[in-house]
Amino acid sequence: MSVKILAIESSCDDTGAAVLVDGKILSNRIANQQVHEQYGGVIPELASRAHQENIVPVVDIALQTAGVKPEELSAIAFTQSPGLIGSLLVGSCFAKSMAMALDIPLIGVHHMQAHVLANFIDDPKPSFPFLCLTVSGGHTQIVLCESPLQMRVIGETLDDAAGEAFDKSAKILGLPYPGGPLIDKYAKEGNPTRFKFPEPRIPELNFSFSGLKTAILYFLQENQQKDPSFITSNLADICASIQQRIITILLNKVLKASQETGVKDIAIAGGVSANSGLRQALQEYGEKHGWRTFIPKFEYCTDNAGMIAITAYYKYLAGEFASLDAVPTARAAF
Ligand code: KG4
Ligand code: ZN
Repeated sequence: MSVKILAIESSCDDTGAAVLVDGKILSNRIANQQVHEQYGGVIPELASRAHQENIVPVVDIALQTAGVKPEELSAIAFTQSPGLIGSLLVGSCFAKSMAMALDIPLIGVHHMQAHVLANFIDDPKPSFPFLCLTVSGGHTQIVLCESPLQMRVIGETLDDAAGEAFDKSAKILGLPYPGGPLIDKYAKEGNPTRFKFPEPRIPELNFSFSGLKTAILYFLQENQQKDPSFITSNLADICASIQQRIITILLNKVLKASQETGVKDIAIAGGVSANSGLRQALQEYGEKHGWRTFIPKFEYCTDNAGMIAITAYYKYLAGEFASLDAVPTARAAF
């Protein structure tokens, strides 16, 4: 009998639903929330309300697109942690109600583990053990993966996440939230070696981005004072130089992790892995250092329910189910 899973993702500001049949994603739908743009960041209360409005239509369309009826489902999966608690509650309550109504198992998924396993949606897939650089709006981690459900964080950020480094830099430049994709866009036209920003010396496999943010702020303030049109007339070069520095901070640590562990299958995941400069640089590091590199398809990099579905599939096969009184948590290790 085939395994059919409906997965729901509601950890932050996107409401996602996906349907998986026997390890293949048949639909992956998302409702983005525009309401936060005017505030320059995600407002948790507004996110919860928008999830409530979006969840039924998104689930409906995901099931219709996949051609799967609710009564055919084998299990319902949901993002259990980490995330905004109000957002997580909407997805978990919906998933529990549906699992109870259909009398099928419930599967709780860790959002960061799911970002890593987005690399298992399409072929080619990494071999175990592999290293994954998981870079999102809230996390920056190097994860050593021994098997689909056995992962260990071997390095992480001590302050801001890589996504925050992009978004906060964009904010200083006067770009709207979330600024990461805009820095990526302008960087394509710019010279990445024009301005030099510092690379922090952080021990072991950890990261820090707060010093870079301050350096960018002071650099721009100083130059704007001399020339009020400095940002507008150099936007592409500034974006390219900031992006370049964030990428080298990330990939130099991945190189260190690869040298220390001897692992040469290297994957990236999370919203920042949608960055075209990072994707290209990973290929270049790979060619230089003899890595096999893996990057999820664009739609599986930023928050999505397809990655929740693939993680739930491995949990289903391992018999790892959640009880109906499982509670979502804002923070959790995996
Ligand atoms: O994984 P994700 O969708 O949500 C979280 O779990 O945080 O990551 C969102 C982050 C945001 O900081 C956003 O600016 C960044 O990913 N991001 C990008 C790009 N696309 C999304 N950063 C740089 N370049 C991009 N193309
Ligand atoms: Zn995420």
